[in-house]
Amino acid sequence: MSGAGEAPSPALYGLVGHPVAHSWSPFIHGMFAKATGQHLVYRLFDVTAEDFERETRRLIASGARGLNVTLPHKQAAALLVQEMTARAARAGAVNTLVLRADSTLLGDNTDGVGLLDDLERNLGLELGDRRILILGAGGAVRGVIAPLLERKPGQLVIANRTPQRATDLAAEFADLGPIGACSIERIAGPPYDLIINGTSAGLHGEMPEMPPGLVGAETVCYDMAYGRGHTPFTLWAKSLHCHRIKKGWGMLVEQAAAAFALWRGIRPDTAPVLRALAKHR
Ligand code: ATR
Repeated sequence: MSGAGEAPSPALYGLVGHPVAHSWSPFIHGMFAKATGQHLVYRLFDVTAEDFERETRRLIASGARGLNVTLPHKQAAALLVQEMTARAARAGAVNTLVLRADSTLLGDNTDGVGLLDDLERNLGLELGDRRILILGAGGAVRGVIAPLLERKPGQLVIANRTPQRATDLAAEFADLGPIGACSIERIAGPPYDLIINGTSAGLHGEMPEMPPGLVGAETVCYDMAYGRGHTPFTLWAKSLHCHRIKKGWGMLVEQAAAAFALWRGIRPDTAPVLRALAKHR
């Protein structure tokens, strides 16, 4: 309670997805809020695809000031907003909704900056001229292609179980740089500098059968998914003696920081949160 007698209820934010029970976002945003002195609560809303539009509108109408959106709703969220940032429009996917003063919704996509901040700032990777392989062609991958191509990699290959989705996605971003597509069976070496898993296969405990020759001594393997211990993708990388294997904790925290900055106008320091999460996982 504030001494001045003003005790406004905390601003409501949250995550809409299905499933969301495993999410670390309340922990992350809770730490950000404490560190920056922001008075807010962050809740989880488990909402199925058929209820997404109705529930999201209801949450906004009942006072939510902003929402994160996760799978499987990122493309549906792009259809819900009145305006999108350029990067969300380019991705065709929204992971952050902002309620503006005029009651309209702005959609942004902070996945790309989240991944880039983690790769470059936290892991110290240089992406220019590098060969990058992305597994998957769904909503999670959409948000990261343009920011990766902005770094002018030597080559970016999208490989997907359903090759047509990879081809379509590559065509959509072909104006931004050297992007190719193939089926997972047809991924060819030499070893890549960076392999990013953006499939949801690991959520089901699966890992697609990969051709040999993709991982070398310098290859970094990055799983956009996160969780305790190994994922099927990080186990695959480990079995090939990959020296640098990373899960998506850093991306999660950095995309959250970007969303927080958008909502509250203050950019939280991510380092303490990354350290705290490292203790938990
Ligand atoms: P998301 O928003 O998480 O990207 P999505 O749009 O459903 O969700 O995309 C899931 C991605 O994981 C797709 O690239 C999917 O491949 P398909 O396009 O062939 O469906 C990929 N995926 C899911 N399960 C997989 C598995 N067992 N093996 C290989 N790829 C898988």
